[in-house]
Amino acid sequence: MATAGSAVGLGNIWKFPYIAGQNGGGAFLLVYIICVILFGLPLLMTELYIGKQSGKSVYGAFRTLRKNNRWQWLSWVCMLTGLVIMGFYFVVTGWCFHYFTAAITHAYKGMDSASLLDHFHGLVSDFPTMLSYSFLAVLLTAAVLWFDVNKGIERLSKILMPLLLIMMFLMAGRVLMLDGSNIGIQFFFQADFSKLTPQVVLAALGQCFFSLSIGMGALITYGAYMPKEQDITITSVQVAFLDTLVAILAGIIIFPAVFAFGVNPAEGPELVFVVLPEILEKMSFSWLSGILFFSLLGIAAITSTISLMEVVVAFATEVSAHTRHPLNRHKSVILVSITVMVMVTACISSMTGSPSWLIIGGHTLFDWFDKLSSCVFMPLNAFAMALFVGWFLPKDGIAHQLGNQPGIKTYIADCYIQIVRFLVPLAIIAIFLNGLGLWK
Ligand code: PFF
Repeated sequence: MATAGSAVGLGNIWKFPYIAGQNGGGAFLLVYIICVILFGLPLLMTELYIGKQSGKSVYGAFRTLRKNNRWQWLSWVCMLTGLVIMGFYFVVTGWCFHYFTAAITHAYKGMDSASLLDHFHGLVSDFPTMLSYSFLAVLLTAAVLWFDVNKGIERLSKILMPLLLIMMFLMAGRVLMLDGSNIGIQFFFQADFSKLTPQVVLAALGQCFFSLSIGMGALITYGAYMPKEQDITITSVQVAFLDTLVAILAGIIIFPAVFAFGVNPAEGPELVFVVLPEILEKMSFSWLSGILFFSLLGIAAITSTISLMEVVVAFATEVSAHTRHPLNRHKSVILVSITVMVMVTACISSMTGSPSWLIIGGHTLFDWFDKLSSCVFMPLNAFAMALFVGWFLPKDGIAHQLGNQPGIKTYIADCYIQIVRFLVPLAIIAIFLNGLGLWK
């Protein structure tokens, strides 16, 4: 449940639709699903395996399994990746909180797409508002880690996750009744292969890693907490399935509405915030629906930020244990929260345009954090983890952990080993160089 909570978040509902919209709809969806099966699933298993086998979070996992420090650098890169993701993820979580309050006051009542777009641009240029909502999100996440109430949140999300799914099904049903919704369905499900470029493939790969929380050690940490009898293969299949279902459902909600309301599908990060309020207004009990939906979205975001921050907090505690100034968990939570707040402040300053040197190469720090984490750091970390498990760990340990059913156990393990040894590393390098235009 916790792993699913980490995976299902803004990546599915906010990011997936706009990345799909910018990358051609149907063609993107097809490549995305292939990426989840070919890379997502084996890499989910890889991270959970590293965590479960070592019983350690990122900092201790590699050195425990290899009994030396040669892979220690990877834990540092994972920690940095977590910081970079948090630098923009908390900003988007802040947007959700803002829309939650807007739902309570019913502020978007009667607005059409154009005024909703204006409303969003107003929010994004409003430094104090964005900062306060994002800081609120950081503080809430820090409070969960501080009071160690992750278990409570997990129990809560056991009820709330199905509720979010039900809500999304209802919204999909409503959207499909809109005039012109079939154009959106066609856009999302009909693959136009002329739109398939190396950049689309890289975008799908990056989105797959981001959405499944692969390539920054969150799943290593969760693997370490996994009960002995829990099956890694089954857990991975369940998480990948649920995560993809939520993303596809988000697409089914957003795209028909995009076309029915006359919004540009390639709009960018503002896409869902322009379309969702208008959809919610069309639901029965629109006021309650809005409050319910944005609160569920906020909670889905927080279960993801918890897993992000947990990695960095555990890292800080463990690294400092070997120095003259060891940090206990509480001190680590404070240190990490302050660092994240500094990054969030830089990100928001760059979006609101001052100081101007925070806009680098014509892009805001928000764009940089987003693209760098999904399309560079996460694939490269995952690449290194695949090599680590495929080439540097004994095979029998893997066979033992990957399945509890004796019959298929060795079959799954054999396939898995070949995939992480050859397919995953070679394909990541190819997609990567291709997508960056370095190799055609
Ligand atoms: N998978 C999360 C989402 O889709 O919103 C984002 C995320 C969480 C990425 C945790 C990485 C991570 F470690």
